[in-house]
Amino acid sequence: MKSAVQHLLGIKDLHQEDISLILSTAKQFKEVLQRPVKKVPSLRDVTIVNLFYENSTRTRMSFELAQKRLSADVINFSASTSSAKKGETLLDTVRNILSMKVDMVVMRHSASGAPHFLAQHIPAAIVNAGDGINEHPTQALLDAFSMIEKFGDLKGLKVAIIGDIMHSRVALSNMYLLKKMGAKVKVCGPPTLIPKHLVEALQVEVTYNVEEALQWCDVANVLRIQLERQNQPLFSSLREYNLAYGITRARLEKLQQSITIMHPGPINRGVELDSDVADGPHSIILDQVENGVAVRMAVMFLLSNPNRS
Ligand code: NCD
Repeated sequence: MKSAVQHLLGIKDLHQEDISLILSTAKQFKEVLQRPVKKVPSLRDVTIVNLFYENSTRTRMSFELAQKRLSADVINFSASTSSAKKGETLLDTVRNILSMKVDMVVMRHSASGAPHFLAQHIPAAIVNAGDGINEHPTQALLDAFSMIEKFGDLKGLKVAIIGDIMHSRVALSNMYLLKKMGAKVKVCGPPTLIPKHLVEALQVEVTYNVEEALQWCDVANVLRIQLERQNQPLFSSLREYNLAYGITRARLEKLQQSITIMHPGPINRGVELDSDVADGPHSIILDQVENGVAVRMAVMFLLSNPNRS
């Protein structure tokens, strides 16, 4: 990529030109995916391992499909069925896999920084598919792609990110990307789920009032409450969360304009998002999933062809 990026560890490390290059490359791949023959030979002879130490449905399938569409050789590793259960360290596991001549590692891990650690110790290109509460760069890229598809540009677009800001790697990667690309960002959620130092450092606006966030925005990116990452109660109950912050049809009907609804999945229906909104005419949630394949094709293509940029 432009700044000789060797890995995709986070949006934090990318320049505006890198993001634009990934998104324009993804646009070309999306066109490929509309053809009757969806496969291109771009990554023939490139071997990629998907190393998933944490549960995943969409992200894992999306990466694997992207690799197959690019004609890469793919191997899959899932921590729950591997020797990680027998006590092998992350580094040992990866060194063993790489000795089988693997070129690229796509990695999800519950520890923030795990892919950054690996990048310092192994020669393969690394793509972060979500590290703890840190970053999920390909999700932010596919979110950006989906917003550009709908609105034409990110510049000046008003995006509200609503939910568990503190534990969401999707929120952090989105905040970095949207700020770099000139969008306006407002985060919204219970005060206990919004880290003050972070939003100050990133210079995003904050509101604890969901009606205000919805009234202000063009797009609401709604996030799941990450109960698995909360070791102490940070709000009273899911029922009360829905009453105070849930995106319901009643709340949307009160707005002067219709807004676009996004969600990275998995949705907890009836908690952060009601079913009739998730499945309604202003939801682009399934477009996000579709665009994920083209965006991941672009990322892996650019990382394995650094001279293209
Ligand atoms: C997200 C994740 O894993 O960070 N999901 C995804 O990758 N599509 C969001 C979540 O788990 O809530």
